[in-house]
Order: sequence, then structure tokens, then C-alpha cells
Amino acid sequence: MSASAPLPRLAVLCSGRGSNLGAIIKAIDSGTLDAEVVGVFSDRPKCAALQLVPATLRWSAKPGDFASRGDFDLALGDAVANVRPHWVVCAGYMRILDSAFVERFRGRLLNIHPSLLPRHRGLDTHQRALESGDREHGASVHFVIPELDAGAVIAQVVVPVQPGDTPQSLAERVQAQEHHLYPEVLRWAASGRLHEHDATAMLDGHTLFTPRQLEFPES
Ligand code: GAR
Repeated sequence: MSASAPLPRLAVLCSGRGSNLGAIIKAIDSGTLDAEVVGVFSDRPKCAALQLVPATLRWSAKPGDFASRGDFDLALGDAVANVRPHWVVCAGYMRILDSAFVERFRGRLLNIHPSLLPRHRGLDTHQRALESGDREHGASVHFVIPELDAGAVIAQVVVPVQPGDTPQSLAERVQAQEHHLYPEVLRWAASGRLHEHDATAMLDGHTLFTPRQLEFPES
């Protein structure tokens, strides 16, 4: 990207620790991701993720202070739209987005999920992978559609399950890989290589019939 071109604007939605947001910020700061975080949005005003950006970039509200899910997601959507994002990036955002929000940002709304989708949609994925006897687990980045964790998968990383793994030990290895996976997919997004078309993911103009399988060094 030329020095004068405006940077792709990322709005990031978080609910927790924010380690994926931290990895995105690190990639931007180190010059490996040409993008700008223009806002961080949360349903948990005390979450650590918000502290990773200056106060002027933070928006948060408690869903319980709104009359309905729709009212909260409308306020969230207005706040996100207000920063004029090119991409809306769910990074550990733990609340289901209503279909009005999803349709508003459809095609530029991404999520990272800690499993090899379509396996283990929803919560407690690490425990469920262990209980199922999976030999491989991992993480996926996908386009968001109204159905939970069901949008077109763009890329995945595989993390082998090891003897003696606990949900915690497995989560740590998966998250370490997520911190490579999400910046890589955002590089594709930020450089105009990634699109959603007819509910499929497209990279460089080609339909991804299966997700890209990426490998990164263990950190
Ligand atoms: C990540 O592991 C992410 O995959 C998961 O939450 C964690 C957030 O960690 N997301 C989901 O489970 C979404 N359904 P972080 O706050 O440290 O980035």
C-alpha cells in the first residue's frame, strides 16, 4: 500500500482479555499489517481488552441497561458505524449478534472461533474437543452470518491434541496460534484480497471451497 492511501479501518469487538486484539495491534505496530484500529467495542465495560487502546477509541455498554437485545445491538451497531470501519472484527466477543447487526455489516464482519469449524460451534470448545476424543483441534476465522458460528470459513490452524491435555492447556496452545491466524487473515482483508460472495469466502477472486489451512511456528 502506498504511503498516501488511507489505511483500512478496523472496528474490533471484544468481551474479555483481548489477547487477539493485542496480537492485531502488535502486527500493526510492527508494520506487518497495514490497517488501523479505529474503535474497540465491548458488552463488558470492565474487560481488559478495552484497556489496550486509548480511551477515545473505546465504546462499551452493559446489555442489561437496554430494554432488549435488539436495542443493545442497535446502539452497538450505531457506535460501530460511526467509526466508518472497512472491517468489523469479532475478537473474543462473547455475545450473540442479532441478525439486524449481522446484515448491517454483512460481508465485512469476521469472527475467530476456537475450534475447527464446523466442529464444536458455540461454547466450551476445548473441553468438548477433549470429551469427543478429537486428535486435532484448532481455530477458525470465518465470515459472520446470523446463524451462530456457521458462516463461510476462511482459514484454520490445526493444533494436535496431546496426551494429558486439559481444556486449559489446549486453550493456551490454540490461542497462541490464533495470534498468528487472525493477523494473517486481516492482512488478506486489508489488502483487498478477501470477499464474501453468495455465502462463500473468496480469496484473490477464487472461491475457497475449503478453508485455507495455515501453519505457524509454535510460540
Ligand atoms: C479466543 O480464544 C477466541 O477464539 C474465543 O474467545 C477467546 C478470546 O480471547 N472466541 C469465542 O469463543 C467466540 N465464540 P482473547 O479475549 O484473549 O482474544
